Amino acid sequence: MTLWAKRDDMIVHEREPFNAEPPRSVLGERRLTPIEVFYARNHGPIPRIHPDTWRLELDGLLSAPATFSLGRLQAGFEHHDLVATLQCAGNRRAGLLAVRDIPGEAPWGPGAISTARWTGVSLADVLAEAGLRPDAAHIAFTGADVSPSARPPQPFGGSIPVPKATAGDVLLAWAMNGEPLPRVHGGPVRLVVPGYVGARSVKWVHRVTAQDRPSDNYFQSRSYRLLPADADPELAAPGEGLQLGPVAVNGDILQPEDGATVPAGRTRVSGYAYGGHKRGIARVDVSLDDGRTWRQADLGPEPGPWEWRHWNSTLDLPAGEQTITARAWDSAAASQPERPESLWNPGGYVNNSWGRVHITVTSPTGGAW
Ligand code: MTE
Repeated sequence: MTLWAKRDDMIVHEREPFNAEPPRSVLGERRLTPIEVFYARNHGPIPRIHPDTWRLELDGLLSAPATFSLGRLQAGFEHHDLVATLQCAGNRRAGLLAVRDIPGEAPWGPGAISTARWTGVSLADVLAEAGLRPDAAHIAFTGADVSPSARPPQPFGGSIPVPKATAGDVLLAWAMNGEPLPRVHGGPVRLVVPGYVGARSVKWVHRVTAQDRPSDNYFQSRSYRLLPADADPELAAPGEGLQLGPVAVNGDILQPEDGATVPAGRTRVSGYAYGGHKRGIARVDVSLDDGRTWRQADLGPEPGPWEWRHWNSTLDLPAGEQTITARAWDSAAASQPERPESLWNPGGYVNNSWGRVHITVTSPTGGAW
């Protein structure tokens, strides 16, 4: 039986809560990820909220706190369409797990990233009507799902700084790729915070709070933080470690599949690159000798400001065991770090090391050397 209307070939890390990513090859096919293969990342049971009974409360440091129904939200503000990539902070964690174990964390491959066209209203417009007070520095969001894995169990939540919340690019979205937002992706309404770790795009949002400090929700103050490699996450105090927000350049190879067997000769290699917060993709290099020499890949069409960019290259593959490596450069001339060893952290977050796939290349007469 298909789970949450996802395709059968999704890699399901957990059924409850539902956590799944598409196989690599699927992500390379399109600029927009079809909903049936869009990754899903959940920390608790998926709530059932009828659009007619859904309400959004705005409270905290506001001159005019308010409650909105979906109808009032849709009638009261200009609608926006935004193509934005969502990437989980745990995307490509498997590369860190290969360095050292990370107990209790799922081995996400390169598929905890997807792109959709989101439709909704701008959080900035809604906050402007509610009258942000000058002492408001952060906007906190609360979802309707209660996560049993949080300590103590609590609804999922998080916050973003006021300059991001009021920049105009953060959406309260009710549609995805032209369809009503599916339940598994936060329907009836979720936040879409482009350029930030996926955790800030709170699903099933029902409260928006203006406050003078970041959210003290478990998923911001304890989890989704970058601890030093030698820290014990069990002993870390709330607020310890680096708070994850804007994301840095990342990318990986989507074709050929890791572990694939391909015939020798000209082979198309393709992948994605994502510039993250306010940065585009300027160049992608591929290598057949683990980075001693590189050639530039062809970049797909110039994307919008919050989108990933696909790339491809045709390489002449000699027979034998081969490693294909790829690295992306962003518009600030920053590139991906070489190895996951230097990035390992106890939560297994933000692995943006070079993409690598190991393949077997068979000679024309059959069989690898
Ligand atoms: N919002 C709520 N309420 N509960 C969650 O578990 N997961 C977050 C974020 N918003 C989550 C949430 C994380 S970690 C990510 S990466 C994205 O949702 C994933 O969104 P998706 O499931 O639509 O892909």
